Amino acid sequence: MIDRATQERIKAAADIVEVVQDYVQLTRRGRNYMGLCPFHNERTPSFSVSRERNFCYCFSCHKGGSPVNFIMEKEGLSYHDALLHLAKKYGIPVEERELTDEEKLRQNEADSMYAANEWAMKLMENWLHNTDEGRDIGLSYLYGRGVTQEAVVQFRLGYMPDSGRALLTEAKKAGFDLGILEKIGLLGQSSTGEWYDKFRGRVIFPIQNTSGKVIGFGGRDLKGGKAKYINSPASPIYNKSQELYGIYQAKNAISREKRCFLVEGYMDVIGMWQAGMRNVVASSGTALTDGQIALIHRFCGAVTLIYDGDSAGIHAALRGTDMLLSHQLDVGVLLLPDNDDPDSFARKHTAEEFKAFVEKNETDVIRFKTRVSLEGAADDPRKRTEAIHTVVESLACVADEARRYVYIQECSTALNVPERLLVTQVAARIREKTEHYKKERARKEAGVSKQEEKPVVTTLNIAQDNTPKSYPLAPYEQPVITLCARYGMMDFCDAVDADGNEMMMSVVDYVRGEMETDGFEFTVPVFKQLFDILVNLQTSFAADLRLKEEEIAPALEQMRREGVEEIGSKALGMSAIQKAEAELEAKIDEERRRELRAFSENYADRFLASHEDDVVRAVASKLLCRTHSLSRIYERHSPAETEADKLPELLPQAILVWKQGILDVNITQTKAQIREASLRNDWGAVTQLQASLIEMMETRSLLASAAGERVVAPKR
Ligand code: UTP
Ligand code: MN
Repeated sequence: MIDRATQERIKAAADIVEVVQDYVQLTRRGRNYMGLCPFHNERTPSFSVSRERNFCYCFSCHKGGSPVNFIMEKEGLSYHDALLHLAKKYGIPVEERELTDEEKLRQNEADSMYAANEWAMKLMENWLHNTDEGRDIGLSYLYGRGVTQEAVVQFRLGYMPDSGRALLTEAKKAGFDLGILEKIGLLGQSSTGEWYDKFRGRVIFPIQNTSGKVIGFGGRDLKGGKAKYINSPASPIYNKSQELYGIYQAKNAISREKRCFLVEGYMDVIGMWQAGMRNVVASSGTALTDGQIALIHRFCGAVTLIYDGDSAGIHAALRGTDMLLSHQLDVGVLLLPDNDDPDSFARKHTAEEFKAFVEKNETDVIRFKTRVSLEGAADDPRKRTEAIHTVVESLACVADEARRYVYIQECSTALNVPERLLVTQVAARIREKTEHYKKERARKEAGVSKQEEKPVVTTLNIAQDNTPKSYPLAPYEQPVITLCARYGMMDFCDAVDADGNEMMMSVVDYVRGEMETDGFEFTVPVFKQLFDILVNLQTSFAADLRLKEEEIAPALEQMRREGVEEIGSKALGMSAIQKAEAELEAKIDEERRRELRAFSENYADRFLASHEDDVVRAVASKLLCRTHSLSRIYERHSPAETEADKLPELLPQAILVWKQGILDVNITQTKAQIREASLRNDWGAVTQLQASLIEMMETRSLLASAAGERVVAPKR
């Protein structure tokens, strides 16, 4: 507990501009300050800070508030801990009484994780500096690689003893929850339930966020083992796609220099830092993410990628560049000679030489791309076409028109194509991207309003609502169209196409096949309209699914990397490794399928809910209302299974019931016709009608036996 007076003192001292500036680069706009919102990824600033009102606010995501609110949100802290955070920043002494046991319990998980990481970092620092093993093995390794004492201290480097129980023993002594330490990746548990130190025998690189909190660790192997580095897993306090190694040490320099160097690894950051280039961060060996770029963009508008000059380096350099360009960052590329990485290059050269090398060799990214993609393309038309496409793609990411034009002029010379061609190609690509973006945004917005609207809808009787009695088949058609609207794009079953190739059939395809085979259609017009929309939607779905696959690829790659690391850190035998690796692949595959399935599952749903036609939208939103699970129509469902899980059973069942309904309606009509014909004494017609009646009734009973006892016809 902090007493009231101290609370007030902290609040009075905290200046919103100073507080926010620790996280966001602010520029003055009249009486206020503006910057890129730290709560969501954005490219144009909508985060406004008012010193007079001591208040901040994002016009786009609506987050913000007082300095305390800001810290709570940004650091994931409780009110109490946010006050402590600010007290520390402003040097206000806080007298606190011990927490009660209950309060300790209530401390949220994230707090305990931060605390555990901070504790572990200090412990490992101490082991590095103050134990024989730490000095002889850890420190001598670092000094041997030319790391200075100053850098060791600045980056809070540490050492984890090789015993495998050093941290474990201390954790038990200090009363830490071992489960928490496991979640943040410091401890592991063997198959026999024994705890051990994950980072044993490694030099430790703490990973800090912008405000210096320790969110994870990297540990370098010193014995030539399998995993050179192991890294903390993602956890509630470590979202890997949002963090960059070195940002805490670099952020002021990045703001000051208005430029950020982006390198691959821990040692590269430290090497550059020692060479006097302090505005440097690392993506830690993974592909760059949007979140990481947004983090850089909070502090500056320009990035230089530094990679080694071999082909792997060149490709790594090219991979993230379009993403960087579309964040409106100035992007430069620097390749180092002779397979040097920034760390080894820094060791071979003085700081002045390194800086001069950067000055001289940094290339604008589009120029770099043009050059690389033209290599060996002079006499190869296909390669040249490919080069043009690559360059067009990058040019389309440049938002500033003047700048884009300057690029186009230059590229037209380099690629030896008329400017006019590049202008039209780039314009077309931009239009395509804008369309896609608009569509996505509309879908997202509709997704939100649909959720709000869902609980209000209570009736399932859409067709009857509007058109009583005129569509006797409506109750049979509705379950089918509902399943199509909810899950239309999902894979449903294997099929063989005209050429004998195996292919996947979607829900919509399956329904269409059934209708074509037996010659029936939706009779309710809006159902038919919905169904046609879904059939056409399949083309754009296929394209979007490919995009989705690309989007999740980096995360899966990361998962593989971590998995391999983990396996490597376990000291297993050959066959155990093979087994673990097979399990890992299966896990990754499972994850991929889960992601893609979730995407397919909601695709039709999302699209219909944002359809431009009011009637379609209204009807769809009623059909999509999940409070009416269709499975209630049919008995025998375990509540644990979702409707989507049950689709293989539900959909054929719904179609079967529909077919029976069609027959029932036809039978009733035929009987009426027979009565009419007999009244007219038209016995020829009667005989004919009776024959078809018998045929219908036979089919009807066949269908009923196929459906078995499970068929419960929908209530009329
Ligand atoms: P590098 O293999 O280039 O390592 O990986 P490095 O930084 O040059 O390391 P040193 O100089 O041999 O000590 C670049 C980065 O990729 C990640 C690490 O973040 C590393 O710094 N990495 C690499 C891993 O996470 N795990 C690995 O097994 C290897
Ligand atoms: Mn290296």
